[in-house]
Amino acid sequence: MKKLIIANWKMNPGTLIKAKKLFNRVDKIKTKNKIVICPPFVYISKFKRAKPSQAYQNSKLQLGAQDCFWTEEGPYTGEISPSMLKDLRVAYVIIGHSERRALSETEEIIEKKLRAALKTGLTPILCVGEKKGENAKRVINNQLKKDLKGISKKDLKKVIIAYEPVWAIGTGNFCSANKANKVREFIKEKLDNKILYGGSVNSKIAKDYLKIGFDGLLIGNASLDAEEFRKIAKNA
Ligand code: PGA
Repeated sequence: MKKLIIANWKMNPGTLIKAKKLFNRVDKIKTKNKIVICPPFVYISKFKRAKPSQAYQNSKLQLGAQDCFWTEEGPYTGEISPSMLKDLRVAYVIIGHSERRALSETEEIIEKKLRAALKTGLTPILCVGEKKGENAKRVINNQLKKDLKGISKKDLKKVIIAYEPVWAIGTGNFCSANKANKVREFIKEKLDNKILYGGSVNSKIAKDYLKIGFDGLLIGNASLDAEEFRKIAKNA
């Protein structure tokens, strides 16, 4: 089965020249899997295809965003709406990443963003996960209940869930595939959705999560190294 390999570039690279270089290298990756690049907002328009029908070199490549706002237009300084992203042929949007939750994004805000993204036709990737010392199942149960509260049954299926233990993000301290799989199974009991793993994934361990049942990966740091990301996407 095709896996979904998502590159979350976060606030990187620092210049458009570097971003283009990285994008072009990722675009050359040959893989049976689907790759989604989520660059910073300001780079997205530089990477959009000229026509919807026009493929990148790698026809399995699509664009994603790292966040979106919950209405289409209005007096919201600094925000980017789902329709603006759609207009740039963005297909996916990460919502509720722990780095945004840390900037005081609440479950209520996340729920509104999810609804707006779905209404516009974007596929949301909802990030859930516990902090160090917290009970993963309890935290995720609460996040899913609140974040998905207002989502219709029909739309619910479209939401991709990313299990990202906060303590594993950007630390090199990944959650073992076996341990992560317990959480995957817990989520799967509630929702029959696609489930990804994210948190310090590198090319050595990427396969373990996919073999055990995850539908894909959300990659931060390792997605900034084209060769490392190529190994992950190719061997997945
Ligand atoms: P990381 O980030 O791979 O650098 O841990 C993952 C993420 O934040 O999505």
